[in-house]
Amino acid sequence: MIDKATVAQILDAADIVDVVSDFVSLKRRGANYVGLCPFHNEKTPSFSVSRAKGICHCFSCGKGGSPVNFIMEHEQLSYYEALKYLANKYHIEIHERELTDEEKAEQSDRESMLIVNENANAHFEHNLFDTEEGRDIGLSYFNERGFSEQMIRRFHLGYSLDKRNDLYETLTTKGFNSKYLFETGLCIADNNGSGYDRFRGRVMFPVQNLAGKIIAFGGRTLKHDKAKYVNSPESLIYKKSNELYGLYQAKHAITKLDKCFLVEGYADVISMHQSGFENTVASSGTSLTEGQIRLIHRFTDNITVLYDGDSAGIKASLRSIDLLLAEGLNIKVLLLPDGDDPDSFSRKHSSTEIQQFIDAHEEDFIRFKIRILLQGCENDPIKRSEVITDVVKSISVIPFPINRSVYTQECSRLLDIDEQVLKNAVEKNIIEARKKSYQKSGSDTIQSTQRQAEIEHNAPSATLQRQSQQADDDDHSKLLYPHEETVIKYILKYGMSDFCDSIDIQGNPMRLTLLEYVDNELSMDNIKFSNDIFAKIFDMSCSMLNDFYTALQQFTDTLNNECQERHNIEIAAISRECQSLDEIKQREERLNNEIEQLKKEQSIIFRNNYLEKALCSCQYDDIRQVAIKLVSEKHHLSKIHSKFSKLKTEFDKLTVLIPEAIYNWKSALILCQIKDIQKQLNSTNDIAPETETALLKRMQELFLLRSQLAKYLGDRVVNPKI
Ligand code: CTP
Ligand code: MN
Repeated sequence: MIDKATVAQILDAADIVDVVSDFVSLKRRGANYVGLCPFHNEKTPSFSVSRAKGICHCFSCGKGGSPVNFIMEHEQLSYYEALKYLANKYHIEIHERELTDEEKAEQSDRESMLIVNENANAHFEHNLFDTEEGRDIGLSYFNERGFSEQMIRRFHLGYSLDKRNDLYETLTTKGFNSKYLFETGLCIADNNGSGYDRFRGRVMFPVQNLAGKIIAFGGRTLKHDKAKYVNSPESLIYKKSNELYGLYQAKHAITKLDKCFLVEGYADVISMHQSGFENTVASSGTSLTEGQIRLIHRFTDNITVLYDGDSAGIKASLRSIDLLLAEGLNIKVLLLPDGDDPDSFSRKHSSTEIQQFIDAHEEDFIRFKIRILLQGCENDPIKRSEVITDVVKSISVIPFPINRSVYTQECSRLLDIDEQVLKNAVEKNIIEARKKSYQKSGSDTIQSTQRQAEIEHNAPSATLQRQSQQADDDDHSKLLYPHEETVIKYILKYGMSDFCDSIDIQGNPMRLTLLEYVDNELSMDNIKFSNDIFAKIFDMSCSMLNDFYTALQQFTDTLNNECQERHNIEIAAISRECQSLDEIKQREERLNNEIEQLKKEQSIIFRNNYLEKALCSCQYDDIRQVAIKLVSEKHHLSKIHSKFSKLKTEFDKLTVLIPEAIYNWKSALILCQIKDIQKQLNSTNDIAPETETALLKRMQELFLLRSQLAKYLGDRVVNPKI
């Protein structure tokens, strides 16, 4: 946890051009910089960086954002990790929030375990290269397998000596607490208050997490009589189901190529990387978990699963691939020639040959599944129908309707079955799955129990009513959304700008920011944002007002000092250079004007950047993403500060645009109410006459209000169309 002031300091220091330049070579183009997008492969640059706005944006794939965002995305770090990265880059000392005792204990346990692993691995690497046993047994084994030294170093492979407690002795002598040797599973406690090594006489494969920290080990035996692999047990730092072997080394290639190869084991990953296919990771023998799939999905939508040609496990593993489909990934399968696994295959062939083989044999997953399952049961109608059921199940879990329908068509062709029949079967599966998840997720809430009761007791009216209420809400939010979006956009871009006159409680004149003006306008009519994220952005902005005024004061003080200094210097120069009093007066006047102009411009920039900067770097993903989207539209990003003084910019027109946006919004709100009343009048048959009169009267009032508003807006809407 980093304290607020430090976060502000980091965000302030981070210069987007500087941050991006570490990864992308940028060229200046007008007010902005452009380069090749690091998030997708491209030949012509569509990645634009605006220093003034402090954001970057790819006009082709849409990725980018503030410096924090860019680092999060590019380095695949969490928000706090990205802040730490930037702090480190700009040499800012981090003041972390005081952790609770429990948090402290857990954090220090974690850190201690990671340090122990790091030291253990250094010892294993030392054994491999610098001891006779390591070289003779471990290194020669790796050489025999064809692992290059570069790969051995890249994956930090090592060797554990064939002794009872070599590591235990080494690390405890170095002063490490044996507690952490046991908790990481490197050593096992014996009965004499001492310990012995888990991995003995094995070559070592360290497992690294996304940040490159070693969280576990796999040790392969070189003898025949022992279990082939021994792995670290699960611990505070190692949850097997959430890790993928090789991801740390593969993540950049996966992002760049927008594709990931999935293999089974350590050796497969290393051989594939050695052949140049660096976008390869392994699930390490277990069947794929949802956690692992999510992990891949952070980097790409496209996965190709590599299967051994003779693997008996193919059919069994087909099921786990449905998980990948359900996650919305595009899955292909590559079946290797009989007898080969990715490791042996990639060692037998050149990179070009491998690539050619991939291009020729990569197969869409559903097609692959049909082919594999149909093998040998072409003439068995019962088995065939089982296959169809199975394939339909796979199609049903795909989250996107378009993809489902493409697959349904394809499947109908391949299996020679009527498309409509398949469609119906898929629909049925989807409805059933929804029902199930509905029952599961809602079983403990009162509301859903009520709904359940309604469904069970066949109470159509209540359900219908709820549905139509839902429909109304949808209608309303559709109507309101564009207006709320416009207002939020102005707030993001200009919220802290100096907007209009007002008076404070004592009756003294004061200035309001645009945000305060909007806040006043909205609270007067008790209007709230119906869109959750807009509401959050608005609330956060308002809560930043105090901090803003403090920051503004500081900024102004510094600016004044700087200007004073410049003034003094130039005045001295003027009196040195000028001959006549008139000339002195003229130049002094020009100087004063210039300085005033500079002050004005600087404070406009400071105010305009304030909210945008804060919200585009906000710690909450949803807010940050919406904020970035709203401020990085193409026309906006490109014309920023191109020399903002000359043009008749949006900024200059705000005093017209803002009231207009608010009144448009209010007008839409009234329209929603009118629609509600109309619906009520139309739908209820036995409406009481008094009620009807009241409703009609209310409607009239609303129409009147709307036309008054319309007048205010300059007669833009005279006859409201409904
Ligand atoms: N595995 C494991 N424990 C085992 C066997 C396998 O953890 N007893 C995991 C390892 O991550 C291994 C993967 O399953 O890498 C695939 O197993 P396998 O194909 O047997 O191992 P390879 O890495 O291919 O080993 P090798 O080629 O050296 O036999
Ligand atoms: Mn193998």
